[in-house]
Amino acid sequence: MDSNSTVALVTGGSRGIGAAVALRLAEDGVDVAITYVSDAEAAAEVVGKVEALGRRAVAVRADAGDPDAAEEAVRRVVAEFGRLDVLVNNAGVGVLGPLAELAPADVDRVLAVNVRAVFLTTQAAAAHLDAGGRVITIGSCMTQRVPGPGGTLYAMSKSSLTGLTKALARELGGRGITANIVHPGPVDTDMNPADGPYAGPQAAMTALGRFAAPREVAAVVSFLAGPDASYVTGAEFAVDGGHAA
Ligand SMILES: NC(=O)c1ccc[n+]([C@@H]2O[C@H](COP(=O)([O-])OP(=O)(O)OC[C@H]3O[C@@H](n4cnc5c(N)ncnc54)[C@H](OP(=O)(O)O)[C@@H]3O)[C@@H](O)[C@H]2O)c1
Repeated sequence: MDSNSTVALVTGGSRGIGAAVALRLAEDGVDVAITYVSDAEAAAEVVGKVEALGRRAVAVRADAGDPDAAEEAVRRVVAEFGRLDVLVNNAGVGVLGPLAELAPADVDRVLAVNVRAVFLTTQAAAAHLDAGGRVITIGSCMTQRVPGPGGTLYAMSKSSLTGLTKALARELGGRGITANIVHPGPVDTDMNPADGPYAGPQAAMTALGRFAAPREVAAVVSFLAGPDASYVTGAEFAVDGGHAA
């Protein structure tokens, strides 16, 4: 196996969008580490699929809610593969509900996973990225258009990632490292199933009138991780079926 091959870390890579990103990057010839928190079996399945594509893979249990987990996860990936080239900040939680019903514990949980962990993982990863390195963060279409009530906490958390991405582009650009953010619309995953109770109105809010498959988001992450995106940084990419149109 080529020890100089590109190595990516995909947080929350055991299911949904993260799993699709892990597999797409493996198809692109990238070795892939994923993190997960609860579903070891699903994580092992993704590792098996990446290996079946001829790439190296490892799954690291790392709770994004734990502030000490990020540095340890990055350390393990670098110990395993000897390098790190691409970070995909994907792990996230969606806590929706009326403003009056969101408790301080909800705020803490969402900000810990969706914001603090992204910051800390990026900070730890940036210490290992060389020129050509990539930081790709998964935001949300709700940073661009909030179509109804109940999204205060989630939209707040995801919107902060746009500011982080632009600041990262400035901070890391001098080292030849890019930072970009992808804003998915409704994507058919465990978090937001296309046959769930709120699926109809979400699909109707898009121009295409449907949910995305996770691989449709992964395709844009693949572009941003690859050589054709060498001059793209600090940018936002809506992969939302026209949700913001
Ligand atoms: N689905 C959508 O419609 C949609 C739209 C816009 C943006 N997004 C964003 O896209 C990202 C992925 O969403 P998804 O729909 O694929 O979610 P998902 O189906 O719920 O999968 C979440 C993934 O993140 C992992 N994860 C969750 N909490 C974690 C934690 N505390 N520490 C480490 N890993 C954790 C899960 O691991 P386990 O399997 O171990 O639980 C799983 O691999 C999220 O940031 C989400 O906000 C999703």
